[in-house]
Amino acid sequence: MKQRIFLLLFAAFQLAATTARADEGMWLLHMLQRINEAEMQQMGLNLTAEDIYSLNQACLRDAVITLNGGSCTAEIISDQGLVLTNHHCAYGAIQGFSTVEDDILTNGFWAMSLEEEKPIPDFSVTFLQRIEDVTERVLADVTADMDAGAREQAIQAVIAQIEEEEKGINPDFRPQVKSFYHGNEFYLFIYRDYTDIRLVGNPPESIGKFGGDTDNWMWPRHTGDFSLLRIYSDADGNPADYSEENKPYTPKRHLKVSLDGVQNGDFTMIMGYPGSTDRFLSSRGIQQALDLYNPSVVEVRDLKLRTMKTHMDADPAVRIQYAAKYAQTANYWKYYIGQSKGLKALDVYSKKKALEDEFSAWMQGSPERMETYGETLGLLDTYYQNTDATVKGQVYSLEAGLIGCDLMLFAFRVGMAAQGLFSEDADRAAGAAASMRGRAEGFFKDYDMETDRDLFVALMTKYMEDIPADQQPSYFNTVRDKYKGDFSRYADKMYPKSFLTDADRFEAFVSEPSEKVLEKDLAVAAAMSLIDSYRSYFSSPEQSKYDEGYRLLTAGLREMNPDKMWYPDANSTMRLSYGTVGDYDPADAVHYDFVTTSDGILQKKDNSNPEFVVDGTLESLLRKRDFGRYADDAGNLVLCFISNNDITGGNSGSPVLNGNGDLIGLAFDGNWEAMSGDIAFEPELQRTISVDIRYVMWVIDKMAGAQNLIDEIDFVMTPAAPVETTETEAPAEEGGR
Ligand code: ARG
Repeated sequence: MKQRIFLLLFAAFQLAATTARADEGMWLLHMLQRINEAEMQQMGLNLTAEDIYSLNQACLRDAVITLNGGSCTAEIISDQGLVLTNHHCAYGAIQGFSTVEDDILTNGFWAMSLEEEKPIPDFSVTFLQRIEDVTERVLADVTADMDAGAREQAIQAVIAQIEEEEKGINPDFRPQVKSFYHGNEFYLFIYRDYTDIRLVGNPPESIGKFGGDTDNWMWPRHTGDFSLLRIYSDADGNPADYSEENKPYTPKRHLKVSLDGVQNGDFTMIMGYPGSTDRFLSSRGIQQALDLYNPSVVEVRDLKLRTMKTHMDADPAVRIQYAAKYAQTANYWKYYIGQSKGLKALDVYSKKKALEDEFSAWMQGSPERMETYGETLGLLDTYYQNTDATVKGQVYSLEAGLIGCDLMLFAFRVGMAAQGLFSEDADRAAGAAASMRGRAEGFFKDYDMETDRDLFVALMTKYMEDIPADQQPSYFNTVRDKYKGDFSRYADKMYPKSFLTDADRFEAFVSEPSEKVLEKDLAVAAAMSLIDSYRSYFSSPEQSKYDEGYRLLTAGLREMNPDKMWYPDANSTMRLSYGTVGDYDPADAVHYDFVTTSDGILQKKDNSNPEFVVDGTLESLLRKRDFGRYADDAGNLVLCFISNNDITGGNSGSPVLNGNGDLIGLAFDGNWEAMSGDIAFEPELQRTISVDIRYVMWVIDKMAGAQNLIDEIDFVMTPAAPVETTETEAPAEEGGR
């Protein structure tokens, strides 16, 4: 992902005075009171900033969690630790429990009691306790004349010290200091992790991923992208690894579910963990993304997807094994196609360029500014100029190399851990063996040798063809010298012999580790050479030009517009975004409504296309139109809605809350017309796509019949206002208009 700028922001805030507010901004919770509270209340928030984030009491913060260190967001919706997130966020877990015989990915799964809930291996959730500004302390020893390396060293030393101190104060919590505004500010976050997480329910894939990759990143949408988990704790509510003794976790705070639904213009806020944005990216960065970075990612992933698909179509077991890997690869393949399209269509380059011109003029207005910011644009220009020739190689080292076929990443991780096996320290050796066995379990479960081999050969061949020899990983020389430059010959040796391609050979190695075996393993050799290649791109002196230029540009733009409300780029820390529900016009003569209804499922239905299959049970229920209390005023079942909240990857699964802080939906996607949004927010076009909570509850209630879950949830519904008739008004019309 990439980032954005301020002309637009500026325009957005001026607009905001007259129309519904824009919408741009991923705000830090501890700054809400100072920066946003008044505006939010004016827009429809009936709470205070203290109700959202407080140091003294339970608040909305306590109901919002992140999954697996930042991959997605989720929220707690009962006093027994019931968790709601997206289907695509639990996709790997659901796939992991699926077999050809018991395919819960295809058929769905609902635990009708606690005993039926499925403990998910290697899964964690994290609660945020508090945030503290530590900028002053972190920058205390930093001076203006330090070079980038010295600066970074000084900063890292203080960060390590702060984290160490915090661990001493409370070993149950996990402290983390992160950089904001690209190295200009630093905040400490205190976290608590829970690791006994169980799968409680998921709809069939035909609901949870309805529309598949065709509808992905697009509106109008008809996807029931949700799943249910539960957090378990020890008897005292503390984190504990899985045990039968554990009990459902009693949260400090859970969300109530509102059945009021949404109207155009309604206030919405979204809390969650956006992963990364690049809103301060320079025009040269846009150019490099458009010309080099994005097309390279798309090209490699294209080949990867085609290769996986051939095998998945041919074998139902492989289809399940590779379902999550395929979806993950396809998601950002389409993302980069959309981002390039959006950057061009919205001419983001020119907007950034204009801002940089403004910045230059402002800088030249004073000698002090020249002194501080004089180098900014030059540093960035030099960085991009010097890296244009290596971007493609950098992308390939990762996309075709390390994460191309599964064997390479596995070999790299095992290769690193294996050093520990030879340690004199028995504890360390045992730890290494355990961690390797853990990794192997996950790897072999979803590994199909034929598929992996095809991926290896196809991707490495492309790598050798497309990337100049002086940037190729060193093991390509071996392939040229000993295998006639033919990766299938290398694969013919590697797959049948490596201890990483067979569970028995792997176990034999771990129980009797041999340095010689490790050294001679062709998969380890390839993986280590790939990681060297990958790292070389980031350890180049160019990288510090980029870091330095980016930091200065960000600081300078803020100084240039001191009255603007600034928010930092996303960095996997908890943020809040507020805005309104709203329709939009994606193109000339085209209008998109702000909700979709169940009628759209029946219109899109195509049982000959796996992406648009409609499950028989679902179809008959929809045709019966038994929507009960989940229907809108017109008797329709609303499926999804859009709002102008500012979110990005990592926000998936985030709660969409109304002005009372009650749950009205679950954010799961962005829209096609604004795929450049991570670089430049587009007030007119950018929308968050959410699944309406009424559809979620309807599926759990009417389709799954999971009354046990419905009973756990606190529903709120504002009673309809009584219809008042006064003598001066005409009596309720009888058909007149
Ligand atoms: N685009 C969504 C996101 O990044 C993921 C949707 C998953 N669905 C899919 N068809 N791959 O949050």
